[in-house]
Amino acid sequence: MESKKKRIFSGIQPSGELTLGSYMGAIKNWVALQDEYECVYCIVDMHAITVRQVPADLRRRALGQLAQYVACGLDPEKSILFIQSHVPQHAELSWVLSCCTQFGELSRMTQFKQKSQQHADNITAGLFTYPVLMAADILLYQTDLVPVGEDQRQHVELCRDIAQRFNGVYSDTFTLPEPFIQRVDQGARIMSLGNPMNKMSKSDPDGCVNLMDPPEVIQRKFKRAVTDSETAVRYDKESKPGVSNLLTIYCAAAGKTLEEAEAEFQGQGYGVFKPAVGDAVIELFRPIREEAQRLMADKAYLEGLYRQGAERASRIAGRTLAKVYKKVGFLPR
Ligand code: TRP
Repeated sequence: MESKKKRIFSGIQPSGELTLGSYMGAIKNWVALQDEYECVYCIVDMHAITVRQVPADLRRRALGQLAQYVACGLDPEKSILFIQSHVPQHAELSWVLSCCTQFGELSRMTQFKQKSQQHADNITAGLFTYPVLMAADILLYQTDLVPVGEDQRQHVELCRDIAQRFNGVYSDTFTLPEPFIQRVDQGARIMSLGNPMNKMSKSDPDGCVNLMDPPEVIQRKFKRAVTDSETAVRYDKESKPGVSNLLTIYCAAAGKTLEEAEAEFQGQGYGVFKPAVGDAVIELFRPIREEAQRLMADKAYLEGLYRQGAERASRIAGRTLAKVYKKVGFLPR
């Protein structure tokens, strides 16, 4: 019997290392959703090549990301964990959906506008049609909810529009997904350590802390974190963005409330505060890093995992794609 749980789909690109931001903003929440929902979590390597990648690095990071997913607590028994390029239906559905998507809709995507400025020498068709591939990811699994950050909301909404249009033209085929934006609670939005006005991003190596960074590297990054010219450890997002971000990180890592943290560092300067935040993150990541390293040493196990994940994913994706091919009028094989 098919389970009646609602289905969740999400993914992260292996375009860089997983960061403190990806952990607190996404993976930690994904772990918590596993019992209540039927979860499908993807490593979206096909999305990563919308900008240029070094092939060997991409391969290494995709495998590393799988090990880190598992080490963070994503359970391959409960959830489907797989690599996007292993399930051919993503590319196949993407083509059909691209024929149901307007050029104008894609032109309005703010992430495309940003990324095409950042990569002005390499604005590919793939960068432009990326939201269509993302729609295929989501719709193949008849997804109900898509946990993403605010920056991906527009893409999920486009996905919904495409699904609605397809259903209208060809009859009901796709579940209409909804963005599932994480509660803006402690740790949901981690900012760059170097520039606390920007979100922590893997493309900003100085401002980000990676899940796999060794303790001394984590500590060095926190000691260098930008603060302000005062001395008080106090939460004030407007006038003290750096300190506020560090407090958010500290609370999430150490499991404390803002009041507790402010009281703890009352009368102490940043020279005490910053290393304490570093230590909290080091302790949070230590077991994850050790487990991921252990898994990385067992390549056969990881290969077995991703093969099994792709098989399970492909079974669901294949059902959806077969319906789609029939509805649009492709002759059966
Ligand atoms: N575009 C997302 C990002 O860059 C990653 C992604 C690809 C995704 N496909 C997805 C997220 C499907 C949720 C659902 O963050």
